[in-house]
Amino acid sequence: VRAVLVRPPRPGVTVEEVPPAPLVPGSVRVTVLECGVCGTDHDIAAGKYGRAPDGVPYLILGHENLGRIAEVSAGVPLFQVGDVVVATVRRGCGACPFCRAGRPDFCTTGRYSERGITGAPGYFAEEYVERTEYLVRVPPSLAGVAVLLEPLTVIEKAIVQGEAVRARAAVASGGGGASPTALVAGTGAVGMLASLALRARGYTVTAIDRHDGSTRAAKLLRGVGAVHADVAAGLSALGEARYDLVLEAAGSPSLAFALIDRIALNGVLVLTGIPDAGGTPAPVPEGDLLRGLVLGNRAIVGSVNASRADFETGLRDLAAFESRWPGVASSLITSRRPLDDAPSVVGHRDPGSIKTVLRVADGGPGPPAR
Ligand code: BGC
Repeated sequence: VRAVLVRPPRPGVTVEEVPPAPLVPGSVRVTVLECGVCGTDHDIAAGKYGRAPDGVPYLILGHENLGRIAEVSAGVPLFQVGDVVVATVRRGCGACPFCRAGRPDFCTTGRYSERGITGAPGYFAEEYVERTEYLVRVPPSLAGVAVLLEPLTVIEKAIVQGEAVRARAAVASGGGGASPTALVAGTGAVGMLASLALRARGYTVTAIDRHDGSTRAAKLLRGVGAVHADVAAGLSALGEARYDLVLEAAGSPSLAFALIDRIALNGVLVLTGIPDAGGTPAPVPEGDLLRGLVLGNRAIVGSVNASRADFETGLRDLAAFESRWPGVASSLITSRRPLDDAPSVVGHRDPGSIKTVLRVADGGPGPPAR
């Protein structure tokens, strides 16, 4: 089986042959159609993150996945050959109450694994084997955009967290209240999916990055009724505005701190970007910052990974995006490249792209890889 390998903590990416995984009872063999490349993959390729499975000298990279079932073991009545599926990423520790309740995204022991990231093989490979409890079936009508499902689930969970915090201060508005406002920091795939998901929920959305309005992201944002703002010269570009839900999807610690000042009264900042560990300590205006949080009932929440329910919500959202803004979700996929290009695609960040996808099997969705 051809697969994209890394050997953390060593930097570097190779494409090599690995043995196929055995088809154990309760599992299926899935032909990988395509896989998205994300910032986490770049960090693992750079040696900053990631861990190979115990006793294995390499990690098969990749967690944003889309595949088609090729073989079914005994004891899987609900899935059949030909089903298009997306697999979840995190596998629980089996010990903490959250993992035992099917919520490894809230694991408290830290002994979870994540396929393609930490301690378990990923999906940048011609095929993988998985138990069906970790698979979500994709309707054929969404196959062309479902490679975006996994990154969308990170946002689905983040929105649930933010709205749970906002619900503390909910009052009956009598139906006449203004729509809530959201600020999305970052216009990579996660930020763009956040803007779409929040627009679909009726938020007034402003999305920020450090580019002028001529980029593909800025145009797509305007097309869904969001405002794009270039904050290359600082958040002062936003004037005095504050937002009910601030969603950070950029992974920049200095930006995250600056966003605290943009949380409205009773509002919340949800952090999803994973910054590099270490870094230079920066001075923090402790008094002003904490005073603003307390006197304004403001909250800051971190959110990682997603639950199975977030995958189901994500599928419903993808369908909503397709019907409300046809073609917009697939426009987030800026290029499809063959698996053999993985060393250059994963080894370097392309600032002009929103989502680069590795196309693995022929006959997958979208135009051929170039
Ligand atoms: C993935 C999540 C994962 C997180 C932390 C993200 O890129 O989408 O599934 O939990 O990285 O490893």
